Amino acid sequence: MSSCLKSTKELLVFLGKSLFSILEALVFTLIPKPLKNVAGEIVLITGAGSGLGRLLALQFAHLGSVLVLWDISSETNEKTGQMAREAGATRVHVYTCDCSQKEEIYRVADQVKREVGDVSILINNAGIVTGKKFLDCPDELMEKSFDVNFKAHLWTYKAFLPAMVANNHGHLVCISSSAGLVGINGLADYCASKFAAVGFAESMFLETFAEKQTGIKTTIVCPFFIKTGMFEGCTTRFPTLLPILEPEYAARTIVDGILKEKVYLYMPKFLYILLFLKSFLPIKTGLLLGDYMGIFHSMDGFTGQKKKA
Ligand SMILES: NC(=O)c1ccc[n+]([C@@H]2O[C@H](COP(=O)([O-])OP(=O)(O)OC[C@H]3O[C@@H](n4cnc5c(N)ncnc54)[C@H](O)[C@@H]3O)[C@@H](O)[C@H]2O)c1
Repeated sequence: MSSCLKSTKELLVFLGKSLFSILEALVFTLIPKPLKNVAGEIVLITGAGSGLGRLLALQFAHLGSVLVLWDISSETNEKTGQMAREAGATRVHVYTCDCSQKEEIYRVADQVKREVGDVSILINNAGIVTGKKFLDCPDELMEKSFDVNFKAHLWTYKAFLPAMVANNHGHLVCISSSAGLVGINGLADYCASKFAAVGFAESMFLETFAEKQTGIKTTIVCPFFIKTGMFEGCTTRFPTLLPILEPEYAARTIVDGILKEKVYLYMPKFLYILLFLKSFLPIKTGLLLGDYMGIFHSMDGFTGQKKKA
């Protein structure tokens, strides 16, 4: 076959398959795919001691999953464990783990494998924010942001992905942020760590795709501010378009996204429009839009997380 004929054939196959994939996506928008069953799946949630992590644990408790809860705070994590049992979970395993420490992640991961089994849904949710301008932020705090918000994802994948590959079964969930898609003044270290988390999760999604590990799914979650206290004091100028999200709504939407095996999940939906605008508007227009929407002042009142149980 001449190379010209071969190229034409490849182009036609590509166009045909692309058209089919678009039609398939349209059909699944109208007739949603059945939700995946996570009863009996071993779900590990990092940062389960409060906020989103705790609410995700309660959602998976209702769905009959085996829960593995990690947090640096034993007290709040135990409380999540107790709440999950009260919500109907029969197998709940609570572990204290400082996700900023690679060796601790590996040690606790080995313990989980011995005591519970192979994790099949890994939710990297633990996160911290310094909320300081770059030049005011001590080096150690910036390093900590990277350790918890990004590097922990590397070490948990190293620990749990091999079994997923061996079983061709698993789901990798990255809780990043809208700050992992667009830079925000006053959040440089946080944004950088969340961009890194998105880049890593997306690359690993492609790696599993290229390796034909079709049973391993990825969900990358990028929410705007959520009322968990982490971003206490932060504001939005147009709450109708960019609302500060209710934690229960965020947790429900994330679990729904996992059950539908969505790869990208941005909340609220207006973020999709903002990203689209960012990709083609002239920079001056983009800056005017950001200014008009109050985005450059959203961190002005930041006070951050208060200690809670
Ligand atoms: N709250 C928001 O506005 C918002 C917006 C977008 C993304 N997120 C992301 O959602 C995730 C959950 O945040 P949240 O709002 O529930 O905050 P949160 O502060 O309520 O919960 C974070 C949890 O992580 C735990 N944690 C912190 N450092 C840890 C460490 N070194 N090892 C283990 N656990 C540790 C904390 O103890 C806490 O239980 C984070 O990754 C955050 O960046 C939050």
